[in-house]
Amino acid sequence: MSKTPFDSSVYPQRHLLGIEGLSPVDIALLLDRADEYVELNRSVGGKLDTLTGRTVINLFYEASTRTRTSFELAAKRLGADVINMSISTSSVKKGETLIDTAMTLNAMHPDVLVARHAASGAVKLLSEKVNCAVINGGDGRHEHPTQALLDALTIRRRKGHLDNLQVAICGDILHSRVARSNIHLLNTMGARVRLIAPKTLIPAEAERLGVEVFHDMKAGLKDCDIVMMLRLQTERMQSNFFPTMREYYHFFGLDYAKLEAAKPDALIMHPGPMNRGVEIASDVADDIGRSAIREQVEMGVAVRMACLEVLSLNLAAEQPAYDDDDEEAGGAA
Ligand code: NCD
Repeated sequence: MSKTPFDSSVYPQRHLLGIEGLSPVDIALLLDRADEYVELNRSVGGKLDTLTGRTVINLFYEASTRTRTSFELAAKRLGADVINMSISTSSVKKGETLIDTAMTLNAMHPDVLVARHAASGAVKLLSEKVNCAVINGGDGRHEHPTQALLDALTIRRRKGHLDNLQVAICGDILHSRVARSNIHLLNTMGARVRLIAPKTLIPAEAERLGVEVFHDMKAGLKDCDIVMMLRLQTERMQSNFFPTMREYYHFFGLDYAKLEAAKPDALIMHPGPMNRGVEIASDVADDIGRSAIREQVEMGVAVRMACLEVLSLNLAAEQPAYDDDDEEAGGAA
């Protein structure tokens, strides 16, 4: 099975740390490439050898189901060798720092490191210490670029375009890296973004992000094309942001009554994991006519194939020089 070769000169980035700073051309290029992989992923035995001989390491310091698995699958579909670092059984448990762990892995000459960390900015820091390409699999509440790309691919395939769509992002915006990456991507591609949440869950910088802010679901959802729900990220909350889950669901949980305000063909999205009965009603989440939640997961593999391919090939063109210092920096653990 073959695919048209990718011209690495058209995508100049070495890492994928965030959507902020990417141009509409960069984004469209990744989406177009990912689109080509969707059919391949649906076919039996759909595998390529584009990344044969290359190594991808998944370094996830935070829990993950979709992101880690789809990066693994994406890398394998392109023929790469994949290593999943299990933090709970690694030297991190013996007190090794993020940078020492990264340098150790770097000494084994991987081509791509996919990293997720609870601290905003940690993945960028890591990218400054290693020779390989780094993909941000989510850093704190900062960015989750591949999630925004897979969301965009899902929307583009369903609606045919991204520009001029009215997109509502609802729920725990404050703690959400998914929201931040989506805001950058949707604004860059000409969509209009609304944020809907209680005042306590809207970040202070919202005004500067080029979005409209609402605190009422029906008002915010009015005539929207896309309704993107977010999980309450209680693991990042240091205080009480809302009175009770029951009250939160009453005012901000997506059910059919609130959805009536959106366009009749509005698409329902959620990055997962979902908390049913908290931010979304089960019947709405499972509505096969309107919910694109399963499709988002499917698009995740295609988008990650595109990102892995583009960055690995760029790195190959660059031919990084590894020196002896790199070998010594990472002692065996
Ligand atoms: C998101 C994340 O980790 O930021 N999940 C994901 O990657 N699909 C959202 C979340 O955890 O709620």
